[in-house]
Amino acid sequence: MHADTRSDISALARPAPYAELQQQLRGLLAGEDDRIANYANFAALVFNSLPDLNWAGFYLLQGDVLVLGPFQGKPACVRIPWGKGVCGTAAQQRATQIVPDVHAFPGHIACDGASRSELVVPLIVAGQLLGVFDLDSPLPARFDETDAAGIQALLSQLR
Ligand code: SME
Repeated sequence: MHADTRSDISALARPAPYAELQQQLRGLLAGEDDRIANYANFAALVFNSLPDLNWAGFYLLQGDVLVLGPFQGKPACVRIPWGKGVCGTAAQQRATQIVPDVHAFPGHIACDGASRSELVVPLIVAGQLLGVFDLDSPLPARFDETDAAGIQALLSQLR
């Protein structure tokens, strides 16, 4: 088999869960405007639907500090200063961070020693930065552009 054909086939066989997650999230959020409840269900849905995660949750901006919000996984650091760690960097730059190797990210904040790679997506509602959504994996290079786009699209359902 030609190498290109093989990689095409494995790409097709890989599950693309984000379209389905969009539907499930729409159902979970429907008719509910309590922010904490919705963020908690968001974190639970993502954590229990995507493979190879050890942590998924929010850090919400309070002044210039990110404070731990609804999450799934082991207890985590509560406060992350502006610009610090992967989360603070994502907030400061208002830019998604895909970190294939957390040990290679300068200033990475280790909350769970099992984490090897990380994806952090800013939560921006009506142009306002509210915080970030952080996913950790025990596998190196777990996250790619598909995950970044998928999580961004899911976050766009939040208010
Ligand atoms: N690793 C993050 C801190 C949060 S925990 O991973 C849950 C960071 O460097 O900002």
